[in-house]
Amino acid sequence: MMHVEITHLIDGKKEFKEAQVMPLDLSYLLEEPSWSTTVQTGKFTMASASSSSPAKSETGDPWLLTPGPLTTSRSVKEAAVHDYGSRDHYFIDVNVRMRQALVEIVNGSGSHVCVPMQGSGTFVVEAMIGTLVPRDGKVLVLVNGAYGTRIAKICDVIGRSKSVLEFPENVPVDPAAVGKALAEDASITHVVAVHCETTTGILNPVEDIAAIVAEHGRRFLIDAMSAFGAIPLDATTVPFEAVVASSNKCLEGTPGLGFCVVRQDALEAAKGNAHSLTLDLHDQWTALEATKQYRFTPPVHTILSFDQALKEFQDEGGVAGRGGRYTENCRVLVDGMRRMGFSPLLPDELQAPIIVTFLMPQDKRFDFQSFYDALRDKGYVIYPGKLTVAETFRIGCIGRLGTAEIEGALRAIKGTLAEMGVADCAPIAA
Ligand SMILES: Cc1ncc(COP(=O)(O)O)c(C=O)c1O
Repeated sequence: MMHVEITHLIDGKKEFKEAQVMPLDLSYLLEEPSWSTTVQTGKFTMASASSSSPAKSETGDPWLLTPGPLTTSRSVKEAAVHDYGSRDHYFIDVNVRMRQALVEIVNGSGSHVCVPMQGSGTFVVEAMIGTLVPRDGKVLVLVNGAYGTRIAKICDVIGRSKSVLEFPENVPVDPAAVGKALAEDASITHVVAVHCETTTGILNPVEDIAAIVAEHGRRFLIDAMSAFGAIPLDATTVPFEAVVASSNKCLEGTPGLGFCVVRQDALEAAKGNAHSLTLDLHDQWTALEATKQYRFTPPVHTILSFDQALKEFQDEGGVAGRGGRYTENCRVLVDGMRRMGFSPLLPDELQAPIIVTFLMPQDKRFDFQSFYDALRDKGYVIYPGKLTVAETFRIGCIGRLGTAEIEGALRAIKGTLAEMGVADCAPIAA
């Protein structure tokens, strides 16, 4: 069962384990396909679906069951309804508080510092590699999806030597293979891994990879864009040099800010490495430390919202609380989809509670675009697949939504299948 496997994945978090044994009520799937008449009573639901109106978030928007941008709370969005100059002491305090909070999420106080970077997540991934890998360094990129592939491309574009260790999209990175690659190539200085590869939703074993990288005396960089804040990562036990993520994934802020939590000693040593003025984390950090100012216009409103999002994150119980809710969302989603005959791409033990990839049904009456559009009309936005090897689509479990919203989406899916006349959701044969 899903719940047993996920307990294994997030080993060590008691809160998660307790969340797993909740009995699962799937009786709603036996009801009429009545997405349109069910009143949702979920924690975050303010507006309900009716026969004439689609489901809505508390701000009247469709629920975003995607890898991002995600549904955010009304209070997070309302926090942005202010104008502050970037030199305002209030704004400066927000940044100090935000940077400290982000370091604490990975237990990095005393060893790591946080450098925010304007832009989407990819900007800070590029900034991390360009700043921390010296121009004569060499990166081993661990690839099992599109975001790993993007990291390899970044290395090419910014002129960092690289080699790629690639795994199939439904297979996690093998730490032993990483060790072998490092043993065979002494010129590799840094290893980069993606924590949750959002292409599929697969969880990579960053703890084990970090241990192997440290054993070989190399440095470890993590793209935890879709995992940070929901899947535990502890700087006191996992030897990583830097981790990057953004404001709009599991921390449930609005998009526009990336950040890097990086060992201070590594950052200090990185002066002059960067290939770019704007994406220089060392320069960004020294300016912030010296002047409390960003070098270039900061996304003030995104940062105000992010400050509120971090408060809500702490109120929910931090990583354990946030990850626990997403785990429940994932469990209800996967069980409900299986009940309708869909097949997840990944076996349960590899699935992170972030986004789930489902194989496209073989039934000729199933047309993804029509399915997507009908769900959108019912108030639920899903996501196309991003795989090279199989036809798939994805449904996210993250953002400001709970199991009531997932159940609402399942009803909408059931209703849509009935409308389309799809009787068989078994996947296209491989
Ligand atoms: C693991 C991972 N890395 C990088 C990115 C890129 O982030 P962005 O689209 O914000 O540039 C994403 C986006 O979903 C991601 O999931």
